[in-house]
Amino acid sequence: MDAESAHSTVFLYGPPGSGKSTVGQALAQALSIPFWDLDEEIENHAEMPVAEIFAIEGEEGFRAREKRMLDLLIGKVIGVVALGGGSLLDPDNHQRVTSAGQILCLDAPVEKLIERLQTQVGKRPLLEEETGSSARQEILTQNLSELMQRRFSHYASFPQIDVSGMTPDEAAWAVQMRLGRFHVSGMGAGYDVLVGPGALDALGVQLRVRNLKGPVALVSDDQVGELYATQAISSLEKAGYEAQTILLPVGEQNKTLESISYLWEAFLQAGLERGSCVIALGGGVVGDLAGFAAATYLRGVPWVAVPTSLLAMADASLGGKTGIDLPQGKNLVGAFHPPALVLSDPQVLATLPETELRSGMAEIVKAAVIGDPQLFELCQQGWQVLRADLGEVVRRGMGVKIRIIQIDPYEKDQRAALNLGHTIGHAIERASGFKLRHGEAVSIGMVVEARLAERMGLAKAGLAGQIASTLQSLELPTSIPAEIDRKLLLETMNLDKKRAAGRVLFALPVQIGEVKTGCEVEDIESFILAG
Ligand SMILES: NC(=O)c1ccc[n+]([C@@H]2O[C@H](COP(=O)([O-])OP(=O)(O)OC[C@H]3O[C@@H](n4cnc5c(N)ncnc54)[C@H](O)[C@@H]3O)[C@@H](O)[C@H]2O)c1
Repeated sequence: MDAESAHSTVFLYGPPGSGKSTVGQALAQALSIPFWDLDEEIENHAEMPVAEIFAIEGEEGFRAREKRMLDLLIGKVIGVVALGGGSLLDPDNHQRVTSAGQILCLDAPVEKLIERLQTQVGKRPLLEEETGSSARQEILTQNLSELMQRRFSHYASFPQIDVSGMTPDEAAWAVQMRLGRFHVSGMGAGYDVLVGPGALDALGVQLRVRNLKGPVALVSDDQVGELYATQAISSLEKAGYEAQTILLPVGEQNKTLESISYLWEAFLQAGLERGSCVIALGGGVVGDLAGFAAATYLRGVPWVAVPTSLLAMADASLGGKTGIDLPQGKNLVGAFHPPALVLSDPQVLATLPETELRSGMAEIVKAAVIGDPQLFELCQQGWQVLRADLGEVVRRGMGVKIRIIQIDPYEKDQRAALNLGHTIGHAIERASGFKLRHGEAVSIGMVVEARLAERMGLAKAGLAGQIASTLQSLELPTSIPAEIDRKLLLETMNLDKKRAAGRVLFALPVQIGEVKTGCEVEDIESFILAG
């Protein structure tokens, strides 16, 4: 993602029949942006079908029309464009599309392309010029095979994705995953989530295209601020924003009302008005604080999440929960206040301390167990492999949470799946006197809960072992430390705020990719005391 192209249109390219139009429509709907089919736009403008343009004006005439229409579409607002199958053979078109947005080439086996083209008689003049007879299939096959041979290296020069066995919605999701581009609806006006290297440099442009107003307050903590505030401010200033940095001291102990009060004062001094934007640049603590201050200042101003820890990317920045701790417990005061945008740049993870990265990996494994078997397979390959592919890890981890909060934005039902590992994990974290990090406690919690699921017959034997060995390969703990007092652990669990009508309800794993919520566990006491 670079600052210029990141905000803009998605161009779907590929051979005839690869599904650009169908997938493009589903993608545009998912991203909540307009869709254009280049050939269809040409036809509408010319008031005749492509085949007729070819017959009257030849390929040259068609290509000239194609270039003009592409120019028009590039000049429009953000959208999805399904390109014609040969439109980027022209180097000038190629260059302009590259600088105008993200291109993805849909790939499919030739048999699949033929199968689809069979249903679209008269639309592909380059493939059908000599058809119209019973020999149509052979001619189509021959013409398409020749065309694919000629264009093989051309299509291969673009990032490619094979979505041929998928439904349009599945294909659109695969494209979103690949591009790191999502839209969360269901809470407020909805918001975009952009993931990719270079996203931080695109911050100013991204605010500008969304008409977010200044002056801007960039909230960070001492540690992250020192590393990235200058880069963020420079991006904002380049986009014409007046921006001021507000730094908070590092750490959960500062997730307090005092910090909120400090932020309100700083917002006033920075001249923030209704509509001015707050940016949270940092881990989950900064996100919760800046988001809550934005939710309450002037009865609510927009905020943008720029998560910089793995946990904040995969979890805290998504879903619109903001808040602070009280001496009596974590996150006891807060508000749902969805961000206007989430911008996640995996490059910043290079400076995240290793302990924080590992702790965040527990949340990634949790996401994998809840809803992404492919991510789980990646996690099974261990620490080195994951470190080398943090972009994929972040996109997939965020993808799982995005799908859940879309369905259940206000935690009425399915969102409880995200509590996997947390019912026991929170209690372990507290019973350890917070010596165990959150991720470590969740790691243990996940394994204990998987054992519970096995005991209840909800999961097949072996699931807990599979989850445990994956977590161990990431050097995360998987059993309750001997020094933790089991009775204290049980007491702490009963205090857990996730109690519903006096019962502790669990989200338990059924298999990799499936979790059951609202599970009541009998005789949890003896299980914990024995473990
Ligand atoms: N709102 C939600 O839905 C939600 C969900 C999960 C967790 N949370 C909250 O998130 C918080 C935990 O978040 P966290 O683990 O990110 O903690 P954190 O914000 O304290 O960050 C951890 C540490 O990493 C540092 N750091 C972050 N990014 C860095 C980077 N790129 N380079 C160098 N250092 C970096 C921070 O300065 C800090 O010292 C908790 O308060 C938790 O309650 C909120």
